[in-house]
Amino acid sequence: MSTLYDAVKITDRIYWVGAIDWSLRDFHGYETPRGSTYNAYLVLGEKVALIDTVRAPFRGELMGRIASVIDPRKIDVIVSNHSEMDHSGCLPRVIEDVSPERVLASVKGVENLSRHFHGLRDRVEAAADGGTLDLGGMALRFMETRMLHWPDSMMTYVPGEGVLFTQDAFGIHLASSERFADELPGDIVEYESAKYYANIIMPFGSRVAKTLEAIGKLEVRMIAPDHGPVYRRDLDRQIELYSRWVEQAPTRKAVVVYDSMWGSTARMARAIAEGLASGGSSVKLMGLKENHRSDIATEVLEAGALIVGSPTQNGQMFPTVADVLTYLRGLSPKRLIGAAFGSYGWSPKAVGQIAETLGQMKVELVGERVEVQYVPDDEALRRCRELGVAIAGRLEGARSVV
Ligand code: FEO
Repeated sequence: MSTLYDAVKITDRIYWVGAIDWSLRDFHGYETPRGSTYNAYLVLGEKVALIDTVRAPFRGELMGRIASVIDPRKIDVIVSNHSEMDHSGCLPRVIEDVSPERVLASVKGVENLSRHFHGLRDRVEAAADGGTLDLGGMALRFMETRMLHWPDSMMTYVPGEGVLFTQDAFGIHLASSERFADELPGDIVEYESAKYYANIIMPFGSRVAKTLEAIGKLEVRMIAPDHGPVYRRDLDRQIELYSRWVEQAPTRKAVVVYDSMWGSTARMARAIAEGLASGGSSVKLMGLKENHRSDIATEVLEAGALIVGSPTQNGQMFPTVADVLTYLRGLSPKRLIGAAFGSYGWSPKAVGQIAETLGQMKVELVGERVEVQYVPDDEALRRCRELGVAIAGRLEGARSVV
């Protein structure tokens, strides 16, 4: 059947049938300048399985790619590895179009899908953790991976082919015509992988560690996530990166995040950055007028220190600073030291508020808190520089930034 869309063969009996979202720029608060893909896969045993679907507006693309391989009504089983809408948005319509014998999800997936799509309550059945579904000549094995990224998440493994469908894990937000990671520039794939981990996976490190252990017991020859390219070469590198990010061992990198109303906090930030560099740290100075919260999270992933500055506005830290701190607190970066600094007019509030939030994030506060009325003089800037030197001293001996 000829359609507008082509499927891409990833093994003799498995095809990528997903959708490419070239225009996506915001993924629930995560800036995605390179777009994304919503991956779905067709597994051709004697029975046919569709692994995951796509975001609702891309149903036509999914169905078109499926139709380039088989009549979609030949799909016997749909497996939903994750109920978030980017993978399940068109599930109810696809079930209507295809009429599969069975729709499977994890135990939590059954619950979550029926809370998203109330008409699916009696249509989805639970796949047991560790359970297998025989497709005839091929099998699917299910592995629960709760909180990676949602409570319902699971992975599906195809033993004979060595393909592991990992849903969000190992995903990246990158739209491309290439379907395999080895066809793309390695530095971009690694950067986007770190960005994805920092912004989506970071809060669930202990779950990642358990999943890596479970994956280590399988014979995996291909990692097929739900976003971005499929990995068919050098899988050890992906495992190594995830293991490193789980550990979050501090580096000598210090991230200084700030915003400024009239330039005072910006001058303080630059003086702290100079002190950090002078003390031997690698510094990322990130103003909030030019850096998005998701890029800051990416830098924080492997940092050793987080230093945050803000002016006080109407008794509060600046709204952009509150935004990034709320976001970072949710992502729970680990093993950081840090400090708070800032300026005020008549009510010195922001620095205390930042210090309190950093404390909630278990960031160990180091050095003297620097708080300046109106405009920093030379003495205040000297204290800022000294704060940078003191933090750099604490990072001495930490590993270098890779
Ligand atoms: Fe790609 Fe958690 O959804």
